[in-house]
Amino acid sequence: MSRVYNFSAGPAALPLSVLQEVQAEMLEWDGQGASVMEVSHRSKAFVELAAQAEQDLRDLMAIPDNYKVLFVQGGATTQFSAIPLNLKHLGQSADYAHTGHWSKKAIADAKRFIDVNVVCDTSAEAYKSVPVKTQWTVDPNAAYLHLTPNETIAGVEFDWLPDTDVPICADLSSTILSRPIDVSKFGVIYAGAQKNIGPAGITIVIVREDLLGHCDPQAPRMLDWTVMAESDSMSNTPPTFAWYLAAKVFKWLKAQGGLEAMAAVNAEKADMLYGYIDASDGYYTNPVQESDRSWMNVPFLIHDTDLEASFIEQATKAGLHSLKGHRSVGGMRASIYNATGIDAVKALMQFMQDFQAQNPR
Ligand SMILES: Cc1ncc(COP(=O)(O)O)c(C=O)c1O
Repeated sequence: MSRVYNFSAGPAALPLSVLQEVQAEMLEWDGQGASVMEVSHRSKAFVELAAQAEQDLRDLMAIPDNYKVLFVQGGATTQFSAIPLNLKHLGQSADYAHTGHWSKKAIADAKRFIDVNVVCDTSAEAYKSVPVKTQWTVDPNAAYLHLTPNETIAGVEFDWLPDTDVPICADLSSTILSRPIDVSKFGVIYAGAQKNIGPAGITIVIVREDLLGHCDPQAPRMLDWTVMAESDSMSNTPPTFAWYLAAKVFKWLKAQGGLEAMAAVNAEKADMLYGYIDASDGYYTNPVQESDRSWMNVPFLIHDTDLEASFIEQATKAGLHSLKGHRSVGGMRASIYNATGIDAVKALMQFMQDFQAQNPR
């Protein structure tokens, strides 16, 4: 077996021990005489798994009792539409922060259902920072305020919240479970699984109960959070394998010491890598303002763009995979989610050092 250091932005690395457990249970899960993929989602065993997964996530994130936890399909992208469809009764327009490629997509989808007020917009400067909250033009009458606290492509992250009394809806796809957050400050949190939760195919929505019950009646029933909450996320056949795997990742996170422990490791990984880049005297650079740098997605450039192709090719040969930047921005990007450990970051830094030595300025 040969497993590489995996810097993929998503679907991303999963913890090895989780994969090994899955491997061991592939032919028979939980004494069922079948794999988890081959049993009914209504079976006692699966219903128990689903309930335990929810409880473990509640424990990890300290989710208050007045929030529902939904396991839905369609990825985070489907929630770009579900949010306005479920919340548009709250106001004439919705506030959106435009801080990266994913918030841009969320805005485009929301506009099909509700008027959008863009409270800040960094597209003109290629998403290199997040405006301080005093510069945001929030509307006190907005139905809600939508944020993307971690922008996966540009590698921009902010962990503070703007001052507003309207429900905050946050796309945490690429930062959920990387550190503790105060869930009670949010109306809705959602995240596709394929970075810090599990495989693609399942999406988590954490929604405050008072926001349920008002979905646009024309909306597909699968996008109605109330329908999903009332059916324990089993309004139709759920992605059972992805749910099962997410449940194992939650157990793994608990065994690591929970989100405080993950935050310490993630801060260390990010500090090491940004520190190395900044100390390289311009050989490597990260374009993001220091205060807004992502812990999870670290884009970087080499001083000579002609070297990029050979950097990526040689890195891949050396067992460091998926370092190519997003096709819309180029350069390199190291995604260092929970399952990509300190050893991977050290191996990357060593490779960067060797590459620089072999390709001096
Ligand atoms: C921040 C963010 N939001 C949304 C998405 C889209 O997620 P999905 O592919 O699950 O629809 C992504 C995907 O990478 C993302 O990084």
